[in-house]
Amino acid sequence: MTDTSKFWDRIAERYAKQPIADQESYQKKVQITREYLSHEIEALEFGCGTGSTALLHAPYVKHILAIDISAKMIEIAQSKATAADVTNITFRQAAIEDLVTLDHSYDVVMGFSILHLLADKDAVIARVHKMLKPGGVFITSTACLGDTMKFMAIILPVGRFLGLIPMVRVFTSKELEDSLARAGLPVESHWQPAKGKAVFLIARKAVQA
Ligand SMILES: C[S@@+](CC[C@H](N)C(=O)[O-])C[C@H]1O[C@@H](n2cnc3c(N)ncnc32)[C@H](O)[C@@H]1O
Repeated sequence: MTDTSKFWDRIAERYAKQPIADQESYQKKVQITREYLSHEIEALEFGCGTGSTALLHAPYVKHILAIDISAKMIEIAQSKATAADVTNITFRQAAIEDLVTLDHSYDVVMGFSILHLLADKDAVIARVHKMLKPGGVFITSTACLGDTMKFMAIILPVGRFLGLIPMVRVFTSKELEDSLARAGLPVESHWQPAKGKAVFLIARKAVQA
């Protein structure tokens, strides 16, 4: 078990009970995402947490593979799916870095509040590009702390050392969009509810990639 999975296992119950901080922005992101869904779609969500977003999107797609590094998060997500009788989500404990999957197998890949928590976001973005079918989209909401809080790069390692927060990487939204473009996933839609809030991006793999 890694430090990351231990951290998220430890806070999973608390995380499940936390209300969504900004309901209005969350609902808008759900609405925008839904424009990219249809009943033929195979979707992957990584860092799915307790499954709330996957459960919302499940009625609009064929199938979602929803993974999370934390077994505890997946346990909670699975029990919510069972209680709601949702059968087209497969919840699986896995790190996105280790997920074994075929190339070109997903129409939509989603990663919400996760890219800034990865040791190597660029490697994961490259994997996402491989996993997507030509013309497929990557939908992500990401805290880009470099836009407003560059000093966090100094404070965050202290919080992590004390076990209060997970590993967090600091980058700007421009750096994130550049990473996506370099990986062959140029951003076609960018929405930020307000300065300092997470950036919601839709990036598309070329039809002929
Ligand atoms: C901030 S939470 C976000 C959860 C959910 N996406 C949401 O928006 O509420 C980050 C989640 O990512 C998971 N996670 C962290 N690193 C991961 C990795 N390398 N692979 C898969 N999941 C990971 C954590 O266990 C946690 O559930």
